[in-house]
Amino acid sequence: MAEERPVDIPASLVSALRGAKHVAVLTGAGVSAESGLPTFRDPMTGLWAKYRPEDLATPEAFARDPRLVWEWYEWRRGLVAAARPNPGHLALAEMERRVPRFTLLTQNVDGLHQRAGSQKVVELHGNITRSKCFEEEHPVESWPATGVPPRCPRCGSPLRPDVVWFGESLPAAAVSAAREAVETCDLFFSIGTSGMVQPAASFCHWAGARGAMVVIINPDVSNFASGSQVLVQGASGRVLPALLEKAWPGSGTIHVE
Ligand code: OAD
Repeated sequence: MAEERPVDIPASLVSALRGAKHVAVLTGAGVSAESGLPTFRDPMTGLWAKYRPEDLATPEAFARDPRLVWEWYEWRRGLVAAARPNPGHLALAEMERRVPRFTLLTQNVDGLHQRAGSQKVVELHGNITRSKCFEEEHPVESWPATGVPPRCPRCGSPLRPDVVWFGESLPAAAVSAAREAVETCDLFFSIGTSGMVQPAASFCHWAGARGAMVVIINPDVSNFASGSQVLVQGASGRVLPALLEKAWPGSGTIHVE
């Protein structure tokens, strides 16, 4: 087997992490890739190969064919239930324990950060394991096992996952928590996100404009401008444990249960 190249962590980043007062981190689908969950840019496989997420994750798609959209989310819920946090998730939970203030902003709906032990998680796009009704947004935890999708026990409207679809607004509380974190952090990480969806895409810019060091961790850094940003090329499951190990020797040995 070919030996993996050691991860190249800049010394300036190690000392910034050691001295940071408030670290804010934005994560995207790439952080869960090493847990076996496909990103949004990966083509879908199996039964779902002929669809694109952009064609299923919309209110219009649900109104047109609620069964199809519900079944797609049932499939994705199955993937999430079978997945386990990877060393990248675990390293972020450890980082939270090591710095004075830490805020994790995630576009992921899989709940893997919380399962890895992260405490302060702002879910910008909701959570796939929760459901609500389509018409009234009643949160629903259990429902009779009839109908696809099932119906809201309170108002009879079809159930949908409690996630943000294309064209919908982000939860206001999550956006204001994110804004506050981006504006007050002194170290900002963007990890495993293509940065194509707003407002998350602007966070690097805002954080940099307020004087924070901005760090991108991604195996593909070709879409990110260098210059004022620190680019660390690599998978988050390798880079984050290596970064922790350099900042606090002994802390980067991550055991996946
Ligand atoms: P994307 O699928 O757009 O991007 C995934 C990013 O992860 C890419 O930049 C990859 O290079 C990177 N990546 C892949 N493997 C990685 C690894 N092992 N470690 C680190 N990075 C890796 O996912 P998001 O940026 O999260 O929105 O997408 C943002 C939003 O757009 C999603 O939440 C979703 C989507 O369409 C909605 O559903 C509303």
